[in-house]
Amino acid sequence: MESYLVHLLVVIATSAIIHIVQAQDQQGFISLDCGLPANELSPYIETTTRLNFSSDAAFIQTGKIGRIHSNAVSKSQRPYTTMRYFPDGIRNCYNLNVQKGRKYLIRAIFTYGNYDGRNIEPEFDLYLGPNLWTTIYLEAQSTREEMLHMPTSNSLQICLVKTGETTPLISALELRPMGNDSYITKSGYLVQYRWRYLNNSTTQSYIRYSSDIYDRIWLSYFQKEWTQISTTFDVNNSNEYAPPKDALQYAATPANASAPLTIEWSSENLHDQYYLYAHFAELQDLQANEIREFNLVWNGQHLLGPVTPRKLDLVTVFSRSPRTCDGGKCILQLIRTNRSTHPPLLNAYELYTVIQFPQSETDESDVSAIRNIVATYPLSRINWQGDPCVPQLLRSDALNCRNTNMSMPPRITTLNLSSNGLTGIIAAAIQNLTQLEKLDLSNNKLTGPVPEFLGNMKSLLVINLSGNNLNGSLPQALQRTGLELSVEGNPELCISDSCRKPPKKKVFVPIVASVGSAAIVIAMLVLFLVIKKKKSTIQQNLTMPPSTPKWNDTFANKNSRRFVYSEVIKMTNNFQRVLGQGGFGMVYQGNVNGYEVAVKVLSQSSTQGYKEFKAEVDLLLRVHHTNLVSLVGYCYEGDHLALIYEFLTNGDLKQHLSGLEYLHIGCSPPMVHRDFKAKLADFGLSRSFQGGVESQDSTAIAGTPGYLDPEYNQSGRLHEKSDVFSFGIVLLEMITNRPVISQTSENSHITEWVGSKLKRGDIVEIIDPNLREDYDSNSAWRALELAMSCANPSSSKRPSMSQVIHELKECIVLENSRVYNNQGLVSQAMSISLDSSVGPMAR
Ligand SMILES: *[C@@H]1O[C@H](CO)[C@@H](O)[C@H](O)[C@H]1NC(C)=O
Ligand SMILES: *[C@@H]1O[C@H](CO)[C@@H](O)[C@H](O)[C@H]1NC(C)=O
Ligand SMILES: *[C@@H]1O[C@H](CO)[C@@H](O)[C@H](O)[C@H]1NC(C)=O
Ligand SMILES: *[C@@H]1O[C@H](CO)[C@@H](O)[C@H](O)[C@H]1NC(C)=O
Ligand SMILES: *[C@@H]1O[C@H](CO)[C@@H](O)[C@H](O)[C@H]1NC(C)=O
Ligand SMILES: *[C@@H]1O[C@H](CO)[C@@H](O)[C@H](O)[C@H]1NC(C)=O
Ligand SMILES: *[C@@H]1O[C@H](CO)[C@@H](O)[C@H](O)[C@H]1NC(C)=O
Ligand SMILES: *[C@@H]1O[C@H](CO)[C@@H](O)[C@H](O)[C@H]1NC(C)=O
Ligand SMILES: *[C@@H]1O[C@H](CO)[C@@H](O)[C@H](O)[C@H]1NC(C)=O
Ligand SMILES: *[C@@H]1O[C@H](CO)[C@@H](O)[C@H](O)[C@H]1NC(C)=O
Ligand SMILES: *[C@@H]1O[C@H](CO)[C@@H](O)[C@H](O)[C@H]1NC(C)=O
Ligand SMILES: *[C@@H]1O[C@H](CO)[C@@H](O)[C@H](O)[C@H]1NC(C)=O
Repeated sequence: MESYLVHLLVVIATSAIIHIVQAQDQQGFISLDCGLPANELSPYIETTTRLNFSSDAAFIQTGKIGRIHSNAVSKSQRPYTTMRYFPDGIRNCYNLNVQKGRKYLIRAIFTYGNYDGRNIEPEFDLYLGPNLWTTIYLEAQSTREEMLHMPTSNSLQICLVKTGETTPLISALELRPMGNDSYITKSGYLVQYRWRYLNNSTTQSYIRYSSDIYDRIWLSYFQKEWTQISTTFDVNNSNEYAPPKDALQYAATPANASAPLTIEWSSENLHDQYYLYAHFAELQDLQANEIREFNLVWNGQHLLGPVTPRKLDLVTVFSRSPRTCDGGKCILQLIRTNRSTHPPLLNAYELYTVIQFPQSETDESDVSAIRNIVATYPLSRINWQGDPCVPQLLRSDALNCRNTNMSMPPRITTLNLSSNGLTGIIAAAIQNLTQLEKLDLSNNKLTGPVPEFLGNMKSLLVINLSGNNLNGSLPQALQRTGLELSVEGNPELCISDSCRKPPKKKVFVPIVASVGSAAIVIAMLVLFLVIKKKKSTIQQNLTMPPSTPKWNDTFANKNSRRFVYSEVIKMTNNFQRVLGQGGFGMVYQGNVNGYEVAVKVLSQSSTQGYKEFKAEVDLLLRVHHTNLVSLVGYCYEGDHLALIYEFLTNGDLKQHLSGLEYLHIGCSPPMVHRDFKAKLADFGLSRSFQGGVESQDSTAIAGTPGYLDPEYNQSGRLHEKSDVFSFGIVLLEMITNRPVISQTSENSHITEWVGSKLKRGDIVEIIDPNLREDYDSNSAWRALELAMSCANPSSSKRPSMSQVIHELKECIVLENSRVYNNQGLVSQAMSISLDSSVGPMAR
């Protein structure tokens, strides 16, 4: 990702040198100017590159057209002035016709240009088919992403996936077919990292199509330790890499003839693997007794060579296996051999990093069948773009797939278009879903006959066609054992050839039921309490545990990403340290890029299933707030599900109360922490409350006992006030420093215990004794009453969250004024503050 480079391309740099040899064949090129209205001069020849751009309208069915802000227009050129943006749906995909098994250079360009006038730079994910390519963080300038990919089918899905609040957009898409006997990797695909030719021009120049037949964009590069050599003669560039001739006409040698030619960079990611392709041509006249010979050395180790460039003729050397950089610092050196009479020379080089695309695409015939079916019916296109099965998080609810492992193409096993307003006949393309087990087309307006082919689909176990207007007679083949067939509610349909009467009951052939036992969903609602350190003199004297590096916002918010299972093993050091256990599975301590993380792994035997996992990822990817734990990433690989969170060093509430206890009584003079924040974690069971009863498959009551709204327990109805209840319990816990459910006392639940004490008007006994009555009793009363009203069994009697905040603020004002009047206790006035933005903000 070299945004400055794109900027160079976008801004008309009058000094930029663009070498156009002659209009070359653009056969197989796909050059899309995204957002260009199809009727607006499409296709057109872009003036500097002579590339033939056309509108993207024919390749995508969704999105809206935007134009960069007029202030930015003067600096940009086509095709980067228009864009397509995607306010609707999570995943929007381009569908391009490509040649299966052919290698392509794929380039995607993104220019925000404040098109929406909001000046909020978007971030989102970019997928190729089912695999994450990269996350795009758009900044003021443009961003360009390039990789070499070999599509595994004749259609390529390039998808923009919304990951937060901002709207994905794209300005241009370019595909260039390459030779497929070059750039061969051991595994994975190559992502462009550097394309450079060594020219000392003061203004940065670039070379691309048509000098480069593959339209790589080579940027000029030079170091002050180098000397330029060049030629005006033609350099033979013919090999399978075909670097442009005008790049080969320049080369660098070290100014100090005995020193190596050195190129250094730092690896953005410690585990990045690199492939190097270096291009050489001798540009000087060497005498018969002279020789230029050198080796390529990578971080001190021999990489390639010895190399002897040929006069005006290309030599390309490349690494056959990927290289990494120890400690994140990469040093490439060209070191002359002892017998060499000349210093090393380099004309041009290419560096790539490796990306793995572990997930295979859904079976090609399943994909084409599904596209065909979706096109037959008036279904919302938005939910049916991209790979139908993977990633599972983006799969349409109407589908279920068998995903044996990542290297096997997923197969569609369930198609459920129940209650989708389908009209017309039953789509013939369904027969091409050859591994379909369940077909539910119930409650639609389908007409015509029940097709014969349904009976011939041996994989089918369940067919529900009830509640349609099907007619004719039921094919005999459908009445086989092992098939559960429902056709009730089709008044015109006869179940036998003799066509006696419409069936009153569904035809039901029992099969061996494999009903998964009802999942008992249990999860922990863990509240983490973070004590924000105050810069008070007292605290500085305390020997507090060293704090981990401050969780960098960029990392926490932007890098929620997918990890492969091997990375999960690595980050947890093979699941070495257990932090805890929840309904979901074990939670392990781990490390990502030097930051501590908590890794929650779904155990194979977990009763909390995929739905909760998905719910949690969905929620955490969308919602961000300082008081919510950040999701760093997730792993979804076959059976391995894991969530990786920001690690909260401060433990959970219980530990914290004992931490507070230490501060209250364990140190002298005693001190009170007046500024703490709670973080909420574990959202597997957070549900979007739309006021309704939840769907039937999620009636199991979930949540940690004691914190759970009793009304939800009884009715299964979930609403905002359920959270108020939980909050009230936490508040009570903090005020009393007592467990929510006590094993010893007879009033076992904290509300009962407080209630019984309150009846006696005994506030001193209720409030945490460690505070030694050092509080404003008015404020304490109000806080206690507030907590109790939150925990009222009847939701209608609970206050709203904003009332809660208002009331708490007033308590704080009371307490603060007391602190100021009573400064003897603490050496420095500390104020209690409450973050006013308590509700989670979508980010
Ligand atoms: C540009 O490409 C389109 C097809 O995409 C073709 O019809 C048109 O002739 C091309 N224009 C030029 C000038 O090559
Ligand atoms: C190589 O590319 C050609 C098209 O130029 C394609 O037909 C062929 O299948 C590719 N071969 C391999 C092994 O990928
Ligand atoms: C290389 O640099 C020289 C200046 O040293 C400049 O005149 C020339 O145009 C550059 N050539 C290319 C292809 O960038
Ligand atoms: C570029 O290299 C040429 C040849 O070595 C030299 O004459 C020229 O001064 C250099 N230009 C810059 C800007 O370094
Ligand atoms: C360029 O090199 C290739 C392979 O080395 C050779 O076949 C070709 O004849 C050369 N072309 C010229 C113009 O020398
Ligand atoms: C030139 O490079 C050699 C080997 O790296 C070094 O020993 C020498 O000091 C350098 N000379 C100058 C003038 O920098
Ligand atoms: C090159 O010279 C160095 C130092 O003079 C010596 O250590 C090394 O063995 C020589 N290498 C070869 C291949 O002769
Ligand atoms: C994936 O599953 C297939 C069929 O079960 C098996 O042959 C293959 O070895 C598996 N691959 C991996 C990587 O587990
Ligand atoms: C299809 O989906 C509906 C709800 O959308 C559900 O009630 C029904 O059970 C599903 N059918 C099958 C076969 O799973
Ligand atoms: C089923 O797939 C075959 C092969 O891909 C195709 O020729 C046929 O048209 C498809 N049938 C339907 C009804 O889509
Ligand atoms: C078929 O669908 C209807 C309507 O959605 C539903 O009432 C019925 O229970 C389903 N039949 C079976 C066997 O699932
Ligand atoms: C079934 O209904 C269609 C129209 O929906 C009609 O054209 C057809 O004749 C009917 N077939 C029978 C056997 O009733």
